[in-house]
Amino acid sequence: MELGLKGRVALVTGASKGIGKATAISFAREGAHLVLLARTASDLEAVARKVAAEHDVRVLPIATDITEAGAVRQAVDTVRNHPDFGRVHVLVNNAGSAIRRQDRQLLWEDDDWRADLEIKMIGYLRVIRDFLPLMPRDGSGRIVNVTGAAGISTWSPALTHGLNNAALNHGTGYLAQDLAAEKITVNAVIPGLIATEWRQYWADNAGSNAGISREAFLEKFCREKGIISGRWAQAEEVADVIVFLASDRASYINGAKIMVDGGIHVNAR
Ligand SMILES: NC(=O)c1ccc[n+]([C@@H]2O[C@H](COP(=O)([O-])OP(=O)(O)OC[C@H]3O[C@@H](n4cnc5c(N)ncnc54)[C@H](OP(=O)(O)O)[C@@H]3O)[C@@H](O)[C@H]2O)c1
Repeated sequence: MELGLKGRVALVTGASKGIGKATAISFAREGAHLVLLARTASDLEAVARKVAAEHDVRVLPIATDITEAGAVRQAVDTVRNHPDFGRVHVLVNNAGSAIRRQDRQLLWEDDDWRADLEIKMIGYLRVIRDFLPLMPRDGSGRIVNVTGAAGISTWSPALTHGLNNAALNHGTGYLAQDLAAEKITVNAVIPGLIATEWRQYWADNAGSNAGISREAFLEKFCREKGIISGRWAQAEEVADVIVFLASDRASYINGAKIMVDGGIHVNAR
């Protein structure tokens, strides 16, 4: 299937690891040029070097903290003024964080709540607002918000992840309506349990705490959680859905919330 992404520019936030890194690689396979954002310059540059070495695309890594308004504006200027870039056809909002602590989030200080909400709920809006002037109005503009299953069911203790993801699942509809006249589609991808680096560490830890292997722990976790596919997903299985939504083939998908969760939602509790 020809996706029509060759030569377009895709911006991915949180591109140095996990789902964002896999998404950058999937776009590069389709011939899209890349703008990559994350905070840690060395990690981001390593991904940029790998992608540029393996694919015939241009890659622009910009170390940026999306919770910092000034840093995001600076990233916009860097893309706008770069002779090989100048615009962004596809914006993938993906930057996020693992659960910062395992304690009861209801009892956290205001600043801890705010720090988590700044990354996704506010950070995603900030990135959209600031990069919007660089997006085309010819029907090729695409925004994909990576949210998460904590926004459709409870994944205790991840209260702030639940707040972020539920807000962004719902907000995606508002954004789609807002940008429809500008021919920019906005969709959400809702991952479930994904085998990113931090999740692998989590599974190994949880398994060893329970005195069982990673595989045995995951089998039990999936059963208890109602993940009917009975396994976690590889990051590429999420990335490919994001790339499809960004493509010409997805031109009539707008305001959708696409679950990539092995069927957790049929058992949402
Ligand atoms: N993995 C899962 O099982 C799962 C499930 C459901 C939803 N999700 C969602 O999917 C998205 C990606 O998750 P992941 O597991 O792939 O995450 P990850 O492996 O922890 O990677 C997070 C990425 O975001 C960047 N980042 C974090 N804070 C940032 C900030 N303030 N500004 C800019 N970049 C920032 C990180 O780099 P730096 O630290 O260098 O900035 C990194 O590149 C997140 O939104 C997450 O909530 C993941």
